[in-house]
Amino acid sequence: MKQLIYGSQPFGFDRAMLAGILVGARRNNARDDITGALICRHDLYLQLIAGPDTAIDALYTRILRDDRHSDVRLLLSDTVEQRIFPEWRMLDDEMPSMSWSPAEVTAGAVEAASAAALREIFERVAATARERAAKVD
Ligand SMILES: Cc1cc2nc3c(=O)[nH]c(=O)nc-3n(C[C@H](O)[C@H](O)[C@H](O)COP(=O)(O)O)c2cc1C
Repeated sequence: MKQLIYGSQPFGFDRAMLAGILVGARRNNARDDITGALICRHDLYLQLIAGPDTAIDALYTRILRDDRHSDVRLLLSDTVEQRIFPEWRMLDDEMPSMSWSPAEVTAGAVEAASAAALREIFERVAATARERAAKVD
């Protein structure tokens, strides 16, 4: 299974646009056996997607062409045995899960982050989401 992390620059970030992206993403990802998470901030999207190689390649090709963001940069592409988000078609996180300031992002902090640091951000998002779900049940 393929796991991919990329970063991009939202184009006119707002809630309605994000909601539209997520509705379509969850529908398609259920069809394509893809799971993952999208971390959003006014100045940055950071997304992890995981699933069958061909489905991930096809999704990333669509994402590259999407005009709702720009400056899409591949940060990590790997073969993995396990999903970080097995129970989420596309978890969204608007919390400041990324510790970089906007100035650091502009200066290239995202590109400079190690694979381990990037994965840790998403592991933390998954752990927090699981805690929340456990409290509600
Ligand atoms: C930040 C961002 C994240 C996206 N994530 C997904 C995703 O996880 N799955 C997906 O199918 N499309 C995602 N999209 C949308 C795709 O770029 C593309 O518009 C969509 O897959 C086309 O699907 P459609 O043929 O059903 O319209 C994302 C777009 C953006 C801007």
